[in-house]
Amino acid sequence: MERTFVMIKPDGVGRGLVGLILQRFEQRGIKLVALKMQQLTRAMAEKHYAEHVGKPFFEELVGFVTSGPTVQMVLEGKDVVAQVRKMNGATNCLNAEVGSIRGDFGLSNQKNIIHASDAPETAEREIALYFAPEELVDYTLRFE
Ligand code: PPS
Repeated sequence: MERTFVMIKPDGVGRGLVGLILQRFEQRGIKLVALKMQQLTRAMAEKHYAEHVGKPFFEELVGFVTSGPTVQMVLEGKDVVAQVRKMNGATNCLNAEVGSIRGDFGLSNQKNIIHASDAPETAEREIALYFAPEELVDYTLRFE
């Protein structure tokens, strides 16, 4: 079954949106297989966003994601990468559809509440950055 990596960024945690975001994924029928909270170090943020090194917003991005606690999770389900990207909405909240997480709660390109992997291969890399294999829990959802 496909997996994706999701991170609630410091604005999402700071605004008390963690429970609400988890609820959206659970209500959709998406399975939570791992969950943790941590404040990212600069080194971790640089690894996570390595593909954006050199871009004009890189320093701002690293500064922002290390500015407060974040929540990491692994979600599992059919087409979960695409499902979650759709539920999150466009990266720039201005373009995110109302009804999506960013469309309902965010206002900008930086403070966009949540990150999710953009492809199954990216998900594999990002999951391995934050979770050891034994931290992913194997169980069956009742209505899977
Ligand atoms: S790109 O160049 O098209 O790949 O970039 P984009 O997909 O738009 O954004 C990649 C991530 O960078 C974040 N971002 C920013 N952070 C801080 N400040 C500014 N100005 C900024 N612009 C873009 C954006 O939220 C994306 O983060 P993730 O976590 O991947 O959604």
